[in-house]
Amino acid sequence: MSPAGERIETRAPGRVNLIGDHTDYTGGLALPLAIDRQIVVRGVDRDELVLTLTSDQDPTPASIQLPAVGIADTEPPWARRVAAIAAELGREQGFIGSVESTVPIGAGLSSSGALGVALALALGASAGHSRLEIALLCQRAQQAATGVPAGVLDEMASLHGLDGHAVLLDCHDLTVEPVPLPEEAQVVVKYVSHRTVVGSPYSDRVAACRAAEEVIGPLRLARTQDLSSLTDPVLLARARHVVTENDRVRQCVEALKGGDLVTVGRLMTASHVSLRDDYEVSTSDLDAAVETLNSTPGVYGARLTGAGFGGCVIALAAPGAVNDAWVMRAVDGAEVVTGGSNYYRDL
Ligand code: GLA
Repeated sequence: MSPAGERIETRAPGRVNLIGDHTDYTGGLALPLAIDRQIVVRGVDRDELVLTLTSDQDPTPASIQLPAVGIADTEPPWARRVAAIAAELGREQGFIGSVESTVPIGAGLSSSGALGVALALALGASAGHSRLEIALLCQRAQQAATGVPAGVLDEMASLHGLDGHAVLLDCHDLTVEPVPLPEEAQVVVKYVSHRTVVGSPYSDRVAACRAAEEVIGPLRLARTQDLSSLTDPVLLARARHVVTENDRVRQCVEALKGGDLVTVGRLMTASHVSLRDDYEVSTSDLDAAVETLNSTPGVYGARLTGAGFGGCVIALAAPGAVNDAWVMRAVDGAEVVTGGSNYYRDL
C-alpha cells in the first residue's frame, strides 16, 4: 500500500426522531434531531484500486475492489454500505482507513445512515455536492445495500442536524426548518431491543402506502375525510396513520414554538398509539417501555422512534426525571473534520 494524499477525517451523527415516523417515503413530515453519538471515518487515499476499512464494531474488515459491483453480495454485510457508497460516487481511487462508532448498532438510531454519510464525505462527496445531494445519494446507496425502499429521513437528519434543535423535514420539497428544542426538558432514549429493517415488514408498509395512494392520491395531501374512500380496512389504517402523523408533526412544531411541552408530549404518545394500532410496527416490549415512561413523573410523553419492530423509545422529560435511559443532545450535522473540502463552506 502506498498512501497517495492527505489524511481525511469525517464525522456523521446518528439521529432520533421526535415525531413523524413512516411518513418520509410518502413525502410527508418528520422532526428528527442529530444526536451526540456519531460515526467517525479516518483514512487516506491509496494507489491500489481497493477500498479497505476496519471497524471497531465488526472484526471483519470491508475490502472492496473498485469500481464497486455486486453490492448485494458483498461480505461482511456492513461492507455493502461501503460498496454502495463507492458505487454511487463512481469512486475509482483506492482508500484505506477505519470506522469508529458511538452510535448504538441495531438500536434504530441510524448507525447505518450515519456510516453512509461519514463514508460519502470521506470518499469525496463534499467536493461539488450539496448536503441535499449527499443525502439523496446516501439514500440510494442504502437502498442498494439493503434492498429496503427506505426514505430519506436518516440521511437528512445526519446531514442537516443543528446544535440544540430538531429539524422539521418536508420529505416532498426536501426542505429543512430548524426548530429549537426546549431548554427546560430533555430528550431521553431508552433502548428496548435489537432491530434491523432488513427482513422486517418495512417494505410491506411502503407497498401499502403506494396502494392507498392509488385510490386517494398522495397521502401527504390527503385529509382524514378523504380516507373514507379506502374500503380495505388494512389500507385504511395504514393511510390513517400517515395522514394523522403528518398532522401531529405540524402541531408538534407549533407546540414547541409556543413552549407547550404538555401538548408536545400528548402528540408523541398519540403518535405511538397510531404506530401501534394503525401502522402495526410496535412490539409488546416497546409498548411496555412507553407505558413505563408515561407513568414516570416528569415525563411529558413517549413513543417508539424510527421504523419500529424493536429499537428504542423516545420521551420528552423534565431533567433528571428518567434515570435508566440515554439523554440525547441535539448536535450539528455531518462534516469533514480534517482534510478534503468541507461542504459546509461550499454551500
Ligand atoms: C427507518 C427508515 C427511514 C424512515 C423510518 C421510519 O429509519 O430508514 O427512512 O422511514 O424508518 O420513520
